[in-house]
Amino acid sequence: MSYRKRLIIALDVSSQEDAINIVDTLKEHVDIFKVGFELFASSGFSVIEQIHKRNKKVFLDLKFHDIPNTVSRAAASVTRLGVYMFNLHTSGGLEMMTKARESAYETAQRLNIMPPKIIGVTVLTSLSNQILKDELSITHGVKTHVKTLSGLAKKAGLDGVVASAQEISLIKKSCGSDFLVVTPGIRPSWSPPDDQKRTATPKDAIKEGADYIVMGRGILRHDDPIKAVELVSIEMLSV
Ligand code: C5P
Repeated sequence: MSYRKRLIIALDVSSQEDAINIVDTLKEHVDIFKVGFELFASSGFSVIEQIHKRNKKVFLDLKFHDIPNTVSRAAASVTRLGVYMFNLHTSGGLEMMTKARESAYETAQRLNIMPPKIIGVTVLTSLSNQILKDELSITHGVKTHVKTLSGLAKKAGLDGVVASAQEISLIKKSCGSDFLVVTPGIRPSWSPPDDQKRTATPKDAIKEGADYIVMGRGILRHDDPIKAVELVSIEMLSV
């Protein structure tokens, strides 16, 4: 897969205008843009339409986590929007994930469109072993927890999971090489970790087997975002 198909830019801004400026700046170099809570809360479906108008794909990062009926209805709604990918929390359980997948697939079939890729969030890259233990009473560590949650996502028929670079090989080994891993927490050597705890460079994430890498601040805070994408793509291609 070429780097363009693997790099996802997180549109972590608060207005449609700012988001579309980024898309227009990077659209010759990037195919997939991630719409998260901040942007969706301010711009709703309109920003998705604007991205689609530019023939770019949307990863809708709303991390659904609710009872199975609510999440499956949300899955049908976002499928109707034609998004390329969306996600939900694996800790919502097997029934929630299975119902969401069934509902997305049925909706896509009815509309005769490609079903979205459904990705499970495992353990957020801003969490560490220490935080899991001290705050959530999860004592078996990030890796074991990620492995358990990925297995559950696979069983529910999801396309893959979100996980840090440190867990990719473990996931691929237990869930198979075609089970997708989307990796945020990417920090090239020139950018600070910010609130992310389990980070990796673009090169290391690809080397570990990431199918997609998600980058926000590392690109958007750079003085020249196009240059930053070029530097990242060179790193990705060097693997
Ligand atoms: O700015 P930065 O590159 O850290 O942004 C990472 C993006 O990936 C953010 O939009 C964040 O919400 C998202 N993300 C994450 N960890 C996850 C899932 C999504 O950092 N487990």
